[in-house]
Amino acid sequence: KIYPDDSEASIAIAHRVAKLIKDKQQNNQTTVLGLATGVSPIKVYKELIRLHKEEGLSFSNVVTFNLDEYYPIQPDAEQSYVRFMKQNLFDHVDIDMANVNIPDGTLAQEDIADFCLAYEQKINSYGGIDLQILGIGRTGHIGFNEPGSAPNSGTRLVTLNDLTRRDASKDFGGKDNVPKKAITMGIGTIFKAREIILMAWNEKKASIIKKAVEGGISTDVPATYLQMSANTEFVIDEDAAVEL
Ligand code: GLP
Repeated sequence: KIYPDDSEASIAIAHRVAKLIKDKQQNNQTTVLGLATGVSPIKVYKELIRLHKEEGLSFSNVVTFNLDEYYPIQPDAEQSYVRFMKQNLFDHVDIDMANVNIPDGTLAQEDIADFCLAYEQKINSYGGIDLQILGIGRTGHIGFNEPGSAPNSGTRLVTLNDLTRRDASKDFGGKDNVPKKAITMGIGTIFKAREIILMAWNEKKASIIKKAVEGGISTDVPATYLQMSANTEFVIDEDAAVEL
């Protein structure tokens, strides 16, 4: 779906999320959301906050799983995704923080594998993710599944691509300060979601969107795996669509 701009698209996505939450609430069911960080979802979260404040949308029966987190990183570090999610969504809605799950950037190296397995099991224990929101990195990564990621990969520790670290350098005051690793849900984890929405705005994403949508399916551009998923929708603005 191509929208004239990111504001209109973000509002439409937020309204889909809100409808899902409300429909499930009516049946006393929990909504399980897969959430993303980065610039792309910020306006979606803004609209969700507005719907909470002005229209009474409640997150009391929402459980969330975030896609990824830098490793290592402290949760209160300025660039941590824990902090990002609090600032951009969780601090402004009525979600129970016990229902919020974000990969832990403070683990000892030897505990990461067990943590990742438990993260998968926890998602499964809620019956899986209802709706997964995704951005896309310029390497074609989703979450932090960089080129080379396998389509059946699970939650794991990964090494960040050089371009990804360069793109993150402004947040960290230089590339050398960007962590070399991250913990991310796998492509296989993402694929299990019942619905997936990938967002991309602005012409900086145009060339990767062309590859992701029209290129051959390849591990070189992990987002191309989404071509195999019938539950995935790309929601982009006209600027991100210029090369299609
Ligand atoms: C980071 C995140 C991804 C995100 C990507 C794009 O690498 N780990 O999940 O999709 O950035 O970010 P942005 O939306 O800021 O372009």
